[in-house]
Amino acid sequence: MPRLAARLTSFPDYPLAHVPAKKRALLARGVDVIDLGAGDADLAPPAAAVAAIKQAADKPAMGRYGFGIGHVPFREAISAWMQSRFGTKFDPMTEVVPLIGSKEGIAHIAFGYLGAGDVAIVPEPAYQAYVGGTLLAGATPYIYPLRPRTNFLVDVDEIPADTLARTKVLYLNYPNNPTSAIAPSDYLAKVVRLCVERDILLVYDNAYSEFGFDGYVPPSIFEFEGARDVAIEFHSLSKTYNMTGWRCGWSVAKKEISTVLAKVKTFVDTGTYMGIQAAGVAAIASWKEFVPKNMAIFDERRLAATEAFRSAGFSCETPKSTMYLWVALPDGVPSKPFAEKLMEDEGVIVLPGAAFGDGGEGFFRVSFIVPPDRLREAATRAGRVLSTFEVKV
Ligand SMILES: Cc1ncc(COP(=O)(O)O)c(C=O)c1O
Repeated sequence: MPRLAARLTSFPDYPLAHVPAKKRALLARGVDVIDLGAGDADLAPPAAAVAAIKQAADKPAMGRYGFGIGHVPFREAISAWMQSRFGTKFDPMTEVVPLIGSKEGIAHIAFGYLGAGDVAIVPEPAYQAYVGGTLLAGATPYIYPLRPRTNFLVDVDEIPADTLARTKVLYLNYPNNPTSAIAPSDYLAKVVRLCVERDILLVYDNAYSEFGFDGYVPPSIFEFEGARDVAIEFHSLSKTYNMTGWRCGWSVAKKEISTVLAKVKTFVDTGTYMGIQAAGVAAIASWKEFVPKNMAIFDERRLAATEAFRSAGFSCETPKSTMYLWVALPDGVPSKPFAEKLMEDEGVIVLPGAAFGDGGEGFFRVSFIVPPDRLREAATRAGRVLSTFEVKV
């Protein structure tokens, strides 16, 4: 066997990698499994999206290579939606890049901007595509732990000056997975100013832009002055429209930045199936009607989960966005053994914070992907497991 590339050994384990096999084993044992692991809800996509892909399947032209351009109405729908939702203007042909899910673009943008000797600031815990893209590009991640101390924000004033001097990319994701933190406007304005001053590419992952509760409405980074010069923002159909497996998302940025991502992609893919992009057009067209109903379901789950995990003896903030509860564990209860025991003894799958690296230790993530009664049942079981651990006082 050929020797593995050195970069492979530098990868951390993927947080959910071992879960499917364990889950199969539990189900085979007849365990009543409650899977709250992945951010992948048990809900249906918009009916119009399903109808659109059915129609597209009958049209041979839709099944041909889309190449980078893809299905032009999808670009146009994205551009119009960005304008009506955030008041931001992007040219559909030169400033929008259709993606095979936003993860793909988030990882690939690194190839356009990062190389050996460059630094990317990567939050931890975080979506793994940031560290993945950075390592694949041969650059060095500067890991910044997201802890309650900074309200789970990357405090850019804490980045050492010599690291900042080598930094070419800053990855930010608010509303945040997994902590559910949101970023105040003055914070985002400050980060944009720093990126402008330092010539840093701001990779802004906005996968949860449509998840807002208790009156909170997440912004686009492009609502902040100067962002157009330095930022690329990623969006996804996955969570907003319950279309995770469809693999469809997009980026928006000024032409000079969009062209870089589009060029990288010409060497690694040929675009997502145009039938899926047509479904994307239909999904976006259903936004006004579909999204509030969908978010009402997540809202009900959010309130049920928060209340139930608190009643079961855990401490957690009520999230204002995303589909996750970031639950604190008492001192002395390590997240991996806790999650392992919860899965083995009670059949409940959660994501231990330490699976994201040390920055996530002391917490576990619950996804609102099942109805309220199942979330309540999961919390009760989690409380039982917690009582078997010795808590430091
Ligand atoms: C923060 C964040 N960004 C991006 C994604 C990827 O979404 P997509 O399905 O569009 O690749 C996810 C999915 O879990 C996510 O949590």
